[in-house]
Amino acid sequence: MARILITGAAGFIGSHTADLLLQEGHSVLGLDNFRTGRRENLERALRHPSFELAQADVAEPGRLGAAAASFRPQALIHLAALVSVPESIAKPEENERLNFGATRLVAEAARAHRIATIVFASSAAVYGGGAPLPVSEQAPCSPMSPYGEAKLRSEALLIEMAREGGPLVRCLRYFNVYGPRQDPSSAYSGVISRFAAAMAAGRPPTILGDGEQTRDFVYVGDAARANLLASTAPGRSPAVMNICTGRACSLNGLFAAMADAWGFRGAAVHAAPRPGDIRHSLGEPGRARREIGFTAVTTLEEGLRALRGPA
Ligand code: UD1
Repeated sequence: MARILITGAAGFIGSHTADLLLQEGHSVLGLDNFRTGRRENLERALRHPSFELAQADVAEPGRLGAAAASFRPQALIHLAALVSVPESIAKPEENERLNFGATRLVAEAARAHRIATIVFASSAAVYGGGAPLPVSEQAPCSPMSPYGEAKLRSEALLIEMAREGGPLVRCLRYFNVYGPRQDPSSAYSGVISRFAAAMAAGRPPTILGDGEQTRDFVYVGDAARANLLASTAPGRSPAVMNICTGRACSLNGLFAAMADAWGFRGAAVHAAPRPGDIRHSLGEPGRARREIGFTAVTTLEEGLRALRGPA
């Protein structure tokens, strides 16, 4: 069993990852600055004897190093981030600090404290819009937002460190992760959480653009399992890998599926498309299967049912 440090542990993906690691017998130290993370997400983890939580901003020099020095983790899963594409356009300095600066501090801490494995939450946003679909990891990257750009530079920094004899590095290019605990409350929140909140309140969801844009939606339980496998599976060479289902769904299709599941009878409202928005995003899932034995097993229907809760 391993000691695993999670940055962004009180966040949406972080808290599910903490729950799964603890369930599998690992010891977990979670760090979070609570900028967007919430203590309620860790309700279950906080009852577990092998879980510790510390309030710390990993983008602040010294904080991560101090935590790593006392916890001595074998693996570090770096999930703390500014997660929204439009927010990265509105706040480029904040994006740079939280999405690239924090990764540089992760790399320094990994080297200084000899952490064996680093798992980095990268994103499908590194590809931009031009690659042939389904997009594989060999496709050229041309990110369309400061968010995707910072994720790509972070990958490069970590992989260079790995090649210089540093830790094993795995960069997971998550596609669109959804599920329980995703916070719907901001204009920057993920689309499924926003649609779900609107439908639950009897309000029509807003589709930005014509709704024919597509996404590869991954259930958060699968993303957590990808983190578990990436932080514990043996391996030597650094790798980037897609965490996706290999199935695309349009926003109009998503709206119809959710309206059905939520019993929502109204129509959606349409508004202008979002600047920096990718038109189509669909991943090729083979490499994660080969590298760490990961396959996304939850269908969109199952995931939406889990999100909606008992009828
Ligand atoms: C999402 C993630 C990002 C991740 C990337 C990987 C969030 C907030 N963002 O970005 O962290 O790295 O996937 O692919 O989880 N839309 C609507 N109505 C709304 C909100 C959004 O129509 O109320 C549309 C958007 O214009 C877009 C699509 O839904 O076409 C998805 O948007 P969003 O959920 O914000 O995710 P991405 O930008 O794809």
